[in-house]
Amino acid sequence: MKSIRSISKIFLKVFLSIIIAVSFAHAQSEQAFTPEVGQAGKDVVWVPTPQALVDKMLDMAKVTPKDYIIDLGSGDGRIVITAAKRGVRAHGIEYNPNMVALAKRNAAKEGVSDKGTFAEADIFESDFSQATVITMFLLPDLNIRLRPKILSLKPGTRIVSNTFNMQEWEADETATAQDDCTDYCTAYLWIVPANVGGTWKLSEGELTLEQSFQMITGTLRSGKVSTPVTGKLNGNQIRFTADGTLYVGLVNGNSMNGNMQVGSNDKWSATRMQQ
Ligand SMILES: C[S@@+](CC[C@H](N)C(=O)[O-])C[C@H]1O[C@@H](n2cnc3c(N)ncnc32)[C@H](O)[C@@H]1O
Repeated sequence: MKSIRSISKIFLKVFLSIIIAVSFAHAQSEQAFTPEVGQAGKDVVWVPTPQALVDKMLDMAKVTPKDYIIDLGSGDGRIVITAAKRGVRAHGIEYNPNMVALAKRNAAKEGVSDKGTFAEADIFESDFSQATVITMFLLPDLNIRLRPKILSLKPGTRIVSNTFNMQEWEADETATAQDDCTDYCTAYLWIVPANVGGTWKLSEGELTLEQSFQMITGTLRSGKVSTPVTGKLNGNQIRFTADGTLYVGLVNGNSMNGNMQVGSNDKWSATRMQQ
């Protein structure tokens, strides 16, 4: 009986020692991980966005607590954490598990683990359709790979990229961080445009619009008279000029309406007949 008890005690001691050793080793390995600028990543290396540009990027996107930000390739979590400290829900998607663990620890240290969350995942296999703001610091070819998915996001979604652009999709705004920012200090902002391409019935005639990202060209045909149209989208807000009249309005799927701002003050509305 006595020997069974002492064997159990020994077994318990060994078991506890193993648990303590494993937990200690785990804690040590977490503490030991220090990221290195330029370290390999799945599709792009890790280089952190300078804090002055993180602030600028969030300012450009005009983030508010109503937003939900997703940082594609979130590194040490600085964009997510800065947003969370502004009271905005933010989420980072990062492939490297050590960086995810580091970002989570950084968020906890700043007391924002509730608003700033992180997932270990591949951005090319992730759903980011719920975001109202996307931030990224990737590479030109990765931006282009992501572009179709980005353009299918809800009109008005803001995209902010550190340094790298979207080729022929011109930025709506460009800004450079000053302060002590020395490298990677320029950011671009795009606003996902509504889809307006096609033929619309407007009281003034038939409006045919061609869309290249946020830019619009086309014609307004009334009887035998055809006048050129040029305009621009800002999310679902549309402005175009036809025959000296400026039309300003909102797009909602296959209908749009608003007020004429120059040439007349009348209201206008249009319905899409063909896409
Ligand atoms: C240039 S860093 C930017 C980090 C952070 N967004 C910032 O601005 O400070 C790019 C990050 O993307 C991560 N990454 C690379 N390819 C990825 C992929 N396919 N899916 C998710 N993360 C990826 C890298 O590990 C790296 O942390």
